[in-house]
Amino acid sequence: MEKYVIHGGKPLVGEVTISGAKNAVLAILSATILADGPCIIENIPNISDVAISIQILRDLGARVKVINKSTLEIDASHIRITEVPYDQAKLMRASYYFLGALLGKFNRAKVAMPGGCNLGVRPIDQHLKGFKSLNASYTLDYGMIDISADQLTGSNICFDIVSVGATINVMLAAVKADGLTIIENAAKEPHVVDVANFLNSMGANIMGAGTDVIKIKGVQSLHGVEYSVIPDQIEAGTYMVAAAATKGDVLVKNIIPKHLESITAKLQKIGLEVTEYDDSVRVKYIGEFNRTNIKTRPHPGFPTDMQPQIAVLLSLAEGTSIITEGVFGDGRFKYVDELSRMGADISVDGHVAIIEGIGRFTGAQVKAVDLRAGAAMIIAALSAEDMTEIENICYIERGYSEIEVKLRALGADIKKIMIPEKILQTAL
Ligand code: UD1
Repeated sequence: MEKYVIHGGKPLVGEVTISGAKNAVLAILSATILADGPCIIENIPNISDVAISIQILRDLGARVKVINKSTLEIDASHIRITEVPYDQAKLMRASYYFLGALLGKFNRAKVAMPGGCNLGVRPIDQHLKGFKSLNASYTLDYGMIDISADQLTGSNICFDIVSVGATINVMLAAVKADGLTIIENAAKEPHVVDVANFLNSMGANIMGAGTDVIKIKGVQSLHGVEYSVIPDQIEAGTYMVAAAATKGDVLVKNIIPKHLESITAKLQKIGLEVTEYDDSVRVKYIGEFNRTNIKTRPHPGFPTDMQPQIAVLLSLAEGTSIITEGVFGDGRFKYVDELSRMGADISVDGHVAIIEGIGRFTGAQVKAVDLRAGAAMIIAALSAEDMTEIENICYIERGYSEIEVKLRALGADIKKIMIPEKILQTAL
């Protein structure tokens, strides 16, 4: 096991290049199953969730060739296995995309209930509702979802809630279904659009991705393509907030500014100078931080995946700020206990966190309780005057490509060190 040791108090200065989007690439990797030929996928981030997806693809029978550090060639046209066992599915949330992709290709799939960050109860009832509307039936047995259809048929599906995962999963299942599928109350996140673009470049006929109504005309077959994954909105937002919290000046490169509008607007309100360019954004500290209130919402609202990071910044502002979690429940506030060890003054009541400004954090021994919580601990540690040790960094490595390398290039004092076996045993 490893941990990060961070000596904070140094402003981040310089340029950072953002990697491909985690939440797009995980769906796209599953979607390669639908192609009848090899796909070349570029701009793949170096994160552990990608490694898990590749392992699942290989175990299903796909040939995966590494072209370079961020490019893979995947030929899933020879896959015959349609089952993803518990041991693999439990490792990440996005394993649910194998349900949609395998169902779309073979009219059957057996996948264990997904794992991932523990953000409270995370049902997949909307995914299953969508598959059922497409004429599939399923059983849930011993944690395995066993789903099949004689023939998937297009249908009208109106989701009860806006769900990124359910929207993408139904797209995956419906691209080759017989007839027209209409998804109402669809999620509009950039990665939903990216997956639709990927499927369309393979020959699918999907219209309206990025709006709340998506129309999918089923096609007979999909072919292999070369495709580059969009930049990661949340990785970009995390570096923007890290630049702000350390009172730095950072140019965040390889981004789509439009995807960052809600984050940019809040940073400006907090008092940062944010300048947008064609494919980069600069965040510069120019004076005191202002308090503000934030409510997380589905896109184009403020992303829930940026909630812990912005809470760190608001802790540095004078006065009281309020964050309302509008996507997940209080499970998304698990980082608050860890941040309190560093001096945060945050009280949580259900979906609402009340943040009292503390001026600055003090170093402490803390742990990442989930992926974005881990990012928040790093930002707090970078802004603190003294040393912080962050354990459970495996969560952070699920979604941030080479984070310590990128931070060091911006002037951060961050090291990844092994926790000796003996200490681990004593701790158990
Ligand atoms: C995805 C992202 C995650 C992000 C989240 C919201 C991936 C792999 N993960 O997660 O990083 O935080 O979008 O932007 O892309 N819900 C149901 N029933 C369902 C599905 C969802 O009740 O069938 C609820 C969830 O519990 C949650 C809300 O709907 O409260 C939104 O969830 P959803 O958009 O589906 O998030 P995920 O796909 O799990």
